[in-house]
Amino acid sequence: MKIIACLSQKGGGGKSTLARALAVELTKQKLNILLVDLDIQQKTSQEWSERRKQQNIKPIVDCQSYPFFDEKLTKLPYDYLTIDGPARISEGTLNIAKRANLIIQPVGASLDDLNPAIREFHALVKAKINKNKLAFVVNRISSNAEEKATQNYLEKAGYYVFSISLSEKISYREAQNQGLSISEVKYPRLKKQAQELVKEIIKKIGTS
Ligand SMILES: Nc1ncnc2c1ncn2[C@@H]1O[C@H](COP(=O)(O)OP(=O)(O)OP(=O)(O)O)[C@@H](O)[C@H]1O
Ligand SMILES: [Mg+2]
Repeated sequence: MKIIACLSQKGGGGKSTLARALAVELTKQKLNILLVDLDIQQKTSQEWSERRKQQNIKPIVDCQSYPFFDEKLTKLPYDYLTIDGPARISEGTLNIAKRANLIIQPVGASLDDLNPAIREFHALVKAKINKNKLAFVVNRISSNAEEKATQNYLEKAGYYVFSISLSEKISYREAQNQGLSISEVKYPRLKKQAQELVKEIIKKIGTS
């Protein structure tokens, strides 16, 4: 079993958005995926998967919420666990990070987003999490220049950054309101952007 954890210190950065897209695209590859919603207060991914079921959107994505990352999860018969982390980094985060094959932190372009996100990864490295398991996805980008500057900033801090970022798009929100993932939006260019990002993430998990 492989574990991909979407974590971040800040709320609203895109953890659920990414975890859902990963779960959908991996499920489409006929793999057994469990989307693990660790935000027991909000349960947004669980609600999203229920919206998906109500709309009869295929493939069906298995989603369960749990109050914390239970070791029992690793004994379940899934090929992948895609973890949608809680709104804040908690005590349990280190436990998740230890077990995960890849830890993805979505981050926005402003210094107010970037610096706390970098500090979060520094803290994980200090706690002996292998740096090769840590990676950033730049989210809510509005221009190529902003994308490049953000990627450079994160790389200078010493971390892996996926080459594909996500643009700030209303349709990404609308898709999720309908129970779709961002890799299922109706606009081909945006759909491709999300699908290519997921491909890049899956490739990385093979090497980390
Ligand atoms: N690239 C994007 N363009 C437009 N909207 C986006 C984008 N990424 C995320 N969003 C929207 O921003 C909101 C927050 O994203 P999301 O729920 O994925 O973040 P989160 O990290 O899971 O938040 P929380 O910490 O509250 O669980 C959602 O409404 C989502 O649809
Ligand atoms: Mg969320």
